[in-house]
Amino acid sequence: MSIVESVRWSPDGTAVRIVDQRLLPERYLERDLRTLEEIREAIATLAVRGAPAIGIAGAMGLAVVAEAARDATADAFARRVADAAEAIRAARPTAVNLPWAVDRLVRRAASTTGDNLAIVAALRDEATAILDEDRAMCRRIGEHGLPLVPDGTRVLTHCNAGALATGGIGTALAPIYLAAEAGRRVEVIVDETRPLLQGSRLTAWELTRAGIPVTIITDATAPALMRRGGVDLCLVGADRIAANGDVANKIGTYGVAVAARHHEIPLYVAAPASTFDPATPDGDAIEIEQRAADEVRRTFGRLTAPPDVPVCAPAFDVTPAELVTAIVSDAGVHYPPFDFRLS
Ligand code: MRU
Repeated sequence: MSIVESVRWSPDGTAVRIVDQRLLPERYLERDLRTLEEIREAIATLAVRGAPAIGIAGAMGLAVVAEAARDATADAFARRVADAAEAIRAARPTAVNLPWAVDRLVRRAASTTGDNLAIVAALRDEATAILDEDRAMCRRIGEHGLPLVPDGTRVLTHCNAGALATGGIGTALAPIYLAAEAGRRVEVIVDETRPLLQGSRLTAWELTRAGIPVTIITDATAPALMRRGGVDLCLVGADRIAANGDVANKIGTYGVAVAARHHEIPLYVAAPASTFDPATPDGDAIEIEQRAADEVRRTFGRLTAPPDVPVCAPAFDVTPAELVTAIVSDAGVHYPPFDFRLS
């Protein structure tokens, strides 16, 4: 099965190599990110995207920026690393994986004794650990979620929580990959995911490449398809899971959850440890990223609304815990009542 690797070190180790997701599915292009601005811009414009993947890219990017500053005085080096950490952290606000990963590197730098070179080596080591751990967590999510996907299941997913969004085989897509690997017949119904079409551009691309049957539907089709009996379960990712189990994920997830509950279809959320935020009590405390109006008004460069009409463009929504059947993490399957205060 051919599963894409969305973020890794360049072969010479001097850059963060990403698949530029803005161009898919028309074009597969790998890009090497070497400067703070390239890293910040790649995260902000969704060249690299998905909660775990932006955490990994942010951490690896910080190590690359530190390496470039290694010849500065100790003070100037520390300032450059701190400023870069701040800029990367602020590139996108909702996924907790980004500050989680950057803060891990900041703590590692603070606990490393020695010169700039020792700190650079420690940062590179920590970023590599984050990548490797994510890969392993994805697989464990797949293993824990596998019993939820018996032979013949029709799974509806929203956005992209697959290999493109992580360092491994994805979160929501991980049980699907493992079910297919085990010879089970799985059909994936993919919401196209307005306005940036992560479902139709990315999820459909990576699943088709892996030989898994996919049907794309417009977002508005999901409730009608559920009503017709065409969906067995919904499986989505998360950008941040609050202590009470409220889930922030791509805008439209809440609608899927409401429709699923109405039609008595289970809604599973899959996420690694890095997506749980015990410090955020509930969904109301999660900052929701607002995207530029032109992502809605000008669909991929073409005017699809009056040019100056006001637009409300939240990138994410919050699904209350009461609509979530279970959360599949690398630690197991969690059923309500959720309490992730100590995660
Ligand atoms: O804006 P995006 O494309 O980064 O949003 C991604 C999602 O909402 C994913 O579902 C989430 O990050 C989980 S990825 C494993």
